[in-house]
Amino acid sequence: MQKKQYDAPILLLLLAFLGMARFAAAQAMSEQEAAAKAQQILSQLSTGEKIGQLSQLFYFGPKAPAELSPGMPIEDAVAKGDVGSLLFVTDPATINRLQHIAVEQSPHHIPLIFGFDVIHGFRTIFPVPLAMAASWDPAMVTRVQSIAAQEARSVGIDWAFAPMVDIARDPRWGRIVEGAGEDPYLGSAMAAAQVRGFQGDAIGESDHLLATAKHFAGYGAAEGGRDYEASYISDAQLWNIYLQPFHAAVKAGVGTLMSAYMDLNDVPASGNRWLLHDVLRDAWGFQGFVVSDADAVKSLAAHGFAKDEQDAAVRAVTAGVNMEMALGHDAYTKGLPEALKQGLVTERQVDEAVLPILEMKLRMGLFDHPYVDEARSERILADPEHRAAARLAAERSAVLLRNEGSLLPLKQSSLHRVAVIGPLADSKLDTLGSWSFQEKLPETVTVLEGLKNKLGPGADVLYEQGVQIRRKYPSMFDALFGVKPEPEWPASEAKQHLDNAVRAARESDIVVLVLGEAQNMSGERASRESLALPGEEEQLLEAVAAAGKPVVLVMLNGRPLDLRWASAHVPAILEAWYPGTQGGNAIADLLFGDAVPGGKLPITWPRDVGQVPQPYAHNTTQDPEDSGIRYWDEESTPLYPFGYGLSYTTFAFSNLKLDRSAVTPADTVNVSVDVTNTGAVAGDEVVQLYTHQRYGLASRPVRELKGFERVSLKPGETKTVHFALDRDQLAYWSAATHGWTFDPSIYDVWAGDDSRAALHAQFEVQK
Ligand code: BGC
Repeated sequence: MQKKQYDAPILLLLLAFLGMARFAAAQAMSEQEAAAKAQQILSQLSTGEKIGQLSQLFYFGPKAPAELSPGMPIEDAVAKGDVGSLLFVTDPATINRLQHIAVEQSPHHIPLIFGFDVIHGFRTIFPVPLAMAASWDPAMVTRVQSIAAQEARSVGIDWAFAPMVDIARDPRWGRIVEGAGEDPYLGSAMAAAQVRGFQGDAIGESDHLLATAKHFAGYGAAEGGRDYEASYISDAQLWNIYLQPFHAAVKAGVGTLMSAYMDLNDVPASGNRWLLHDVLRDAWGFQGFVVSDADAVKSLAAHGFAKDEQDAAVRAVTAGVNMEMALGHDAYTKGLPEALKQGLVTERQVDEAVLPILEMKLRMGLFDHPYVDEARSERILADPEHRAAARLAAERSAVLLRNEGSLLPLKQSSLHRVAVIGPLADSKLDTLGSWSFQEKLPETVTVLEGLKNKLGPGADVLYEQGVQIRRKYPSMFDALFGVKPEPEWPASEAKQHLDNAVRAARESDIVVLVLGEAQNMSGERASRESLALPGEEEQLLEAVAAAGKPVVLVMLNGRPLDLRWASAHVPAILEAWYPGTQGGNAIADLLFGDAVPGGKLPITWPRDVGQVPQPYAHNTTQDPEDSGIRYWDEESTPLYPFGYGLSYTTFAFSNLKLDRSAVTPADTVNVSVDVTNTGAVAGDEVVQLYTHQRYGLASRPVRELKGFERVSLKPGETKTVHFALDRDQLAYWSAATHGWTFDPSIYDVWAGDDSRAALHAQFEVQK
């Protein structure tokens, strides 16, 4: 190993840091301190080293295919100071090895920052983000993301490319699974909760990570739901809807943002100075740094925006992309040195890009503690508490869509034989959902395994897969991570499997049918033109139901699917999303009443793909929404509304009170409402508050969520829930004024258990 050769000022700097190390471990470095030190470090760097700090490369190990590797061995690039960050390195020994090269051999000993997609867990996989949003429980979300942070940090990862806070209103878009759904208020709450979970109370807190709000901005509005397609979003929709969760993340102190791939109103997001500078820095005062999405800088040329890769580098860095994430080579280290010589970029612009990166490395404590304790990591990853948290999270995320005749909860004593059927019933990967790489597959519990655990060793459980499902076009990720599809059954075998499933149903007392989408059917590059159950699942569903035994349909999926037939013919439907490592145990708890469903839909559930997008917060029109007016061939209402979800108990709302009925724009209206558990078991209700502005300088949505709280109630118990409505909640960006507006108007208020809440009050905002 090469001996450290510090430059004198850097040595002094390091000694100063060492002196502070004990203090730093207890308290993160302040922003001001980091800013001063970053400036000092920057003044030592050559132009090449500065540009190196702007470069982030994927590293898939020495055996990675050539197109995924930089032109030179990664060790050489790190030693030269040509790279400031690596992503996709998850082995602590490799992280330490590369970090030693950066700290000991690079010209100014600047540590690397290691990033990874810690989306819903690292070793312990939690429910997918859409499911977490369905919990309507920000405190739980903070807790599970702090566990994810602890696990990832323990192996040396410093930075999570999460939360994804893109609002998505079109379930055809595969990445809807990665976000919090359609609503800016719920989305903002989930964004802030996740930032707190990843980062802790302040950047640099031990066992935490730097978070990334992505993909800035508008990616979820891809035309036709087709991944990467351009988004066309009005200014009003941008400010009122799509930018809201990003702003919430910034207000929660998020350290980084990721710029999106697609064109936003014809200007690619990763070259969009209005977005990355005027909005992010000027309007919101963001002090962290922006990383591009993978290859989004180079692809500015592919978009027909930049002339070539050098121009792309210039456009991105001057727009406000500090760091370029790149597969193979990057445009910054290739293009910026020449661009500087030609005067296309100034040294000052490069300095401005580098400074926040150095500041974040300092605030994360990487200069003080660049290496990771490999032995400690083993202990942290093995912590059984993490699995317990995953089970609870999966229970709290599930949404009970239907429960005719109170089929659920099931009573173990009355069941002699249970049939568990479906292509997802015993598939570990499909229980986890996308963006789960480090999972220990053997410890993932499928629905079949969870039910067997619940019913005990002697239980009579029949299992049949029934059908196979596959994508028409294979997933890039399967190829990348070596996931091999099961060989396709010949027709005669397929018929046999279907017949076996029907026989198992007929011979059992109850059927638990597990349908939905395989892991690779939802996520990046997983958009669909249909919301039908994939493959022959619908046929399996109808054939199994025809066997005449009660059917509980458990859905594993990352988007609403067409459940019209099931919603009319299957007595119980539990939406379990991709529930994660402990999914099977959690589902068994829910089906047998050891946990009571309390999740609510974070997205409107359409009847059919032809209805989308169909946000609940649409504007009112001159005609009511009755059937036959919007469509003549299908009802215009959704199958299940936003905010909907059943319980094993019932709740009643009463006493909706406002503390005043007329206010000035500076006042706050305090709202309270009582919720009572009117059933026989304890359960959770999510109290939801919606408002509507009757008139003003623009038409406003028929309803908008403005508050929620998940409360636990014993049978007969009543709780009073309080909300406050003020200017911040009610102002909106108006296309009439091209700015934030708070109209004098009459405001309707509803409180209840979903977006159709009936309990009503109103108040007036006077001039
Ligand atoms: C995705 C990002 C992700 C990045 C790194 C991209 O393809 O859009 O969300 O963070 O890859 O894996």
